[in-house]
Amino acid sequence: MAKFMWTGRFKKSVDPTVNDFNSSLPFDCRMYSEDISGSIAHCHMLHKQGLLSDADAKSIEEGLKEILRDIESKTLRFDSESEDIHMFIEEELTRKIGDAGKRLHTARSRNDQVALDQRLYIIHQSALIRQMIMNLHSTLISRAKENLCTYMPGYTHLQRAQPITLAHHLTAYIGMLERDIGRIDDAVRRMSVSPLGSCSLAGTTYPLDREYVAMELDLSGVTRNSMDGVSDRDFAIEFVSALSLVMMHLSRFSEDLILWASQEFGFIELDDAYSTGSSIMPQKKNPDVAELTRGKSGRVFGDLIALLVVMKGLPMTYNKDLQEIQEALFDAIDTLKSVLPPFTGMLRTMKVHTDRMLEAARGGFSNATDLADYLVRKGIPFRDAHEVSGKLVRYCIENSVALEDLKLEKFQSFSDRIDSDIYEALTIENCVQNRKIIGGPSPEAVEHELQQAEKFR
Ligand code: ARG
Repeated sequence: MAKFMWTGRFKKSVDPTVNDFNSSLPFDCRMYSEDISGSIAHCHMLHKQGLLSDADAKSIEEGLKEILRDIESKTLRFDSESEDIHMFIEEELTRKIGDAGKRLHTARSRNDQVALDQRLYIIHQSALIRQMIMNLHSTLISRAKENLCTYMPGYTHLQRAQPITLAHHLTAYIGMLERDIGRIDDAVRRMSVSPLGSCSLAGTTYPLDREYVAMELDLSGVTRNSMDGVSDRDFAIEFVSALSLVMMHLSRFSEDLILWASQEFGFIELDDAYSTGSSIMPQKKNPDVAELTRGKSGRVFGDLIALLVVMKGLPMTYNKDLQEIQEALFDAIDTLKSVLPPFTGMLRTMKVHTDRMLEAARGGFSNATDLADYLVRKGIPFRDAHEVSGKLVRYCIENSVALEDLKLEKFQSFSDRIDSDIYEALTIENCVQNRKIIGGPSPEAVEHELQQAEKFR
């Protein structure tokens, strides 16, 4: 039976089922280095404020650094009955250095400790996730640059609508990723404050220097209210919400790729290294990476809902329910970290069938708007031009012919404003090239967008 640090007022030891139920060590152990950094900063501050002797402060710091090394070299394992990572490290410290270890917890509670650890953990993990998103961002920039003139249909309602380029399509996702990164940075900026000194909920009578602790931990300041300091988990919710949007974007992108990789579209072929086969159908090549990404988005949205639901009924201030925040938070982080590298590799290596894309852009009357625009340039009001273009499309469907393949006389039987320059106006290339508007699909417009994306940091 573990000896807990709060046994003073208890007559009985805790039931083993309760101990297992209560313990967060199996999952909060991943915050060991954040917990140790927080403890070292707290120790320095207690020493500076004259609350710890030189000798105690020195042995606490050395003991904590040794524990960090032991954990990293796996000589120290988390196989104890400690209630959580905070207790585990403190117990280990006391085992190593004796009574000085017991002085570290002066003017501190696990309530402010866990709130700090989670903030630090998210800050560290966000840097890794941010880098992974930036890798995807630069992969998309280079794939877009290769495909400035790869014509394909753009869709609305999943019906061929107007011609675009693959570069234009990929660049749409670049913008989404930039917003995602903006949201992560924003959440991190807001969470970079230290709750230490809030203690259990009502601060302390000791003259702590909270700002000093924050500075040592590279945080920009301290939380303002001790009650909010220990019970706030907005930062976790904001972060998982930002991650949910990343997953939503990757899931939409996955859906595009899954469609494009189908034989019906045939727009792309995923590299063998990023596809899998079927155990029964020898011809199959499945887009599993994209499908799993789409599937895992639901998991991260679930994590977000779990966090919101844990929080919604909690009275001030700390309640043990808050421990439940951690697994959902960690799951969201782990999921993003598992999704992004293969997703990026899949895009980096996918083969583009430019001929199939062009063929699809040519079929389906995706130049019908350009025909209407042509008539407008010849002086016909847009609504009437739309009508003429629509009638021509109907004629073509009934006669199985493309707009650009009609004879000039046929065009002229629908409108006498149509001249031989109509053929120029209807080529897919021109339909795209003429859309030079900011944000449009013309190679110049997309190149301009990509130049801006390249400056994004
Ligand atoms: N493992 C706990 C958590 O994650 C640490 C805080 C415990 N505080 C307490 N008053 N029991 O929330």
